Amino acid sequence: MPYMVWGQNVGYITTAVSQSVSQGNGEPHTHCAMSTEVKPGMSLCPLGMEPPPERELLCIFGTGDLGRSLGQRLLQTGYRVVYGSRRPHSCGPLPPGAQVMSHTEAAQLAAVVIVCVHREHYDFMEEVAPQLKGKVLVDVSNNSKKGLYPESNAEFLQSLIPAASVVKAFNTVSAWSLQNGPSDAHRQVFLCGDKAEAKQKVRELATRLGLSVLDRGSLSAAREVEDFPLQLFPEWRLPLCIATGLTGFFFFYLLIRDIIYAYVEQDKDISFRIMVSLANKVFPIVSLIMLSLCYLPGVMAAILQLYRGTKYRRFPDWLDHWMLCRKQLGLLALGFAFLHVLYTLLIPIRYYVRYKIREYTVLQIRENKTEVFDTTTAWYTDSYFSVGILGFALYILLGITSLPSVSNALSWREFSFVQSKLGHLTLLLCTLHTYLYGWNRFLNPSTYKWWTPPGYMLCLVVPSVVLVLKLLMVLPCVDRSLGRIRQGWERTGPEGEGTKPLMA
Ligand SMILES: Cc1cc2nc3c(=O)[nH]c(=O)nc-3n(C[C@H](O)[C@H](O)[C@H](O)COP(=O)(O)OP(=O)(O)OC[C@H]3O[C@@H](n4cnc5c(N)ncnc54)[C@H](O)[C@@H]3O)c2cc1C
Ligand SMILES: NC(=O)c1ccc[n+]([C@@H]2O[C@H](COP(=O)([O-])OP(=O)(O)OC[C@H]3O[C@@H](n4cnc5c(N)ncnc54)[C@H](OP(=O)(O)O)[C@@H]3O)[C@@H](O)[C@H]2O)c1
Ligand code: HEM
Repeated sequence: MPYMVWGQNVGYITTAVSQSVSQGNGEPHTHCAMSTEVKPGMSLCPLGMEPPPERELLCIFGTGDLGRSLGQRLLQTGYRVVYGSRRPHSCGPLPPGAQVMSHTEAAQLAAVVIVCVHREHYDFMEEVAPQLKGKVLVDVSNNSKKGLYPESNAEFLQSLIPAASVVKAFNTVSAWSLQNGPSDAHRQVFLCGDKAEAKQKVRELATRLGLSVLDRGSLSAAREVEDFPLQLFPEWRLPLCIATGLTGFFFFYLLIRDIIYAYVEQDKDISFRIMVSLANKVFPIVSLIMLSLCYLPGVMAAILQLYRGTKYRRFPDWLDHWMLCRKQLGLLALGFAFLHVLYTLLIPIRYYVRYKIREYTVLQIRENKTEVFDTTTAWYTDSYFSVGILGFALYILLGITSLPSVSNALSWREFSFVQSKLGHLTLLLCTLHTYLYGWNRFLNPSTYKWWTPPGYMLCLVVPSVVLVLKLLMVLPCVDRSLGRIRQGWERTGPEGEGTKPLMA
């Protein structure tokens, strides 16, 4: 028996609603309530989008968190909503204006049924199957981890109700974001299904809700779509591992070389240097290596293309993966460079540095000595500061252009100019800054404590290799060949017949 739920206006519901099953009758108490309020600035129907024709009626199975939030938004957008519930008389508070009835009754009334129920409870759908014939069934479900079932939830639902058209959608938007008006990150709806008409209906519905829709193809893409909400910063994982590994390695390397060496060989306790001096070595070293790792895959890809004589063969997976996380590598590298600059600004106010300056000045007065101004030292220190500052300025520029709002305003050519050309210039300046910092210490035997090179020498290896390889790539004969390959030229014809000379 259908009945209306009117006006419980207690506040916004949250996804953190606590649903508990009461003692005895087993019915859920939902400690939450729906709001009739609309948050300021929340669009109910996107501009230029007509409201639904004749207040179309939609059916939602399940009166849980997502069902209620989705229902509330649909009502605000101009749809009518009927809920299908196991317990139509005792379900929790629902959006004002919504109807609630049994699954079978509700399914009969609407052409589109949104199934807001967990996959584990889909068995009840078989009972409702006759009422769902020819209808559009929207599967919104997610799983708690990957690979839990042999097939996707949407394909499973389709197998339960073959006479309906199942469309996978809305699984990437949360009940919470629907309540608050979807923010950018939660606006994206991925959609897939085998019937074009059914997909079109769901697309219109999502667009009216102010969400942006991306068609992922047929229902076989549902597994991939269901995996999206389970991902946790996937493209940051490798860069974070690299950053942690490099930081750990250089920290212990420099700890042994600088602090433990002084303790063992000179009987000096300089452990206080860990906090600033050591940090100000580790951070720029990691930053420089990670910056060069942004540009190494580009030259490796170019070498591979030259070797294969075509750009149409796939790169190995590891190279592909590496190339796809260069933005994250670069942003982390920029973070480390920031830390280096902050620590460097701190140098003049350090107690240790002020003490050393005072001590030296007093010593000179006592011995009545005056140090002669060394122009070469002035040149070298000013040069490495200046080159470091220029490198850092370009580093920031790279960071700014990687912001979506900025990169969207640039043409592909402009973005590529900044990231590729100015990026290599940044790498050159930062490498030069480190070479200048090393200056004449490269040839000084006392630099190599316990026969080990200092950290800044080790960190110069990868950037130097990248810059030399890049230099080779821009040699006119190599550049011309690479340019031809990248414009589609192939050394071997499509049929695989004779080899044409590349350097011709
Ligand atoms: C702070 C910071 C922020 C960063 N932000 C980003 C970012 O937002 N996005 C990003 O991708 N990287 C980013 N990076 C990483 C890096 O700057 C870029 O990946 C950069 O484009 C790499 O340049 P590349 O020349 O090595 O390689 P690529 O630019 O990939 O390519 C090398 C050369 O090949 C050409 N080329 C490549 N593919 C083709 C093709 N199929 N056909 C024809 N020509 C081709 C290019 O035009 C270029 O000349 C960032 C780095 C830092 C430090
Ligand atoms: N919550 C989110 O933010 C979110 C986001 C994206 C996708 N999803 C997906 O949406 C679906 C619902 O999520 P939810 O958070 O709304 O879950 P929920 O709060 O637990 O609600 C699920 C609803 O399913 C119904 N149900 C429970 N057991 C049932 C059974 N045995 N048979 C039939 N119906 C049963 C109940 O409604 P009745 O008591 O009215 O029958 C219940 O309220 C899930 O598949 C989830 O993965 C959720
Ligand atoms: C505002 C810009 C910069 C300034 C003022 C600056 C300044 C300095 C100073 C003073 C040192 C010596 C630190 C010490 O003696 O402990 C140094 C070292 C170093 N800098 Fe910079 N720097 C800048 C930017 C950069 C950038 C962008 C990079 C690249 C990632 C970089 C990489 C290095 C490296 C690798 C060292 C050697 C660390 C060591 O082993 O001691 N610097 N820089």
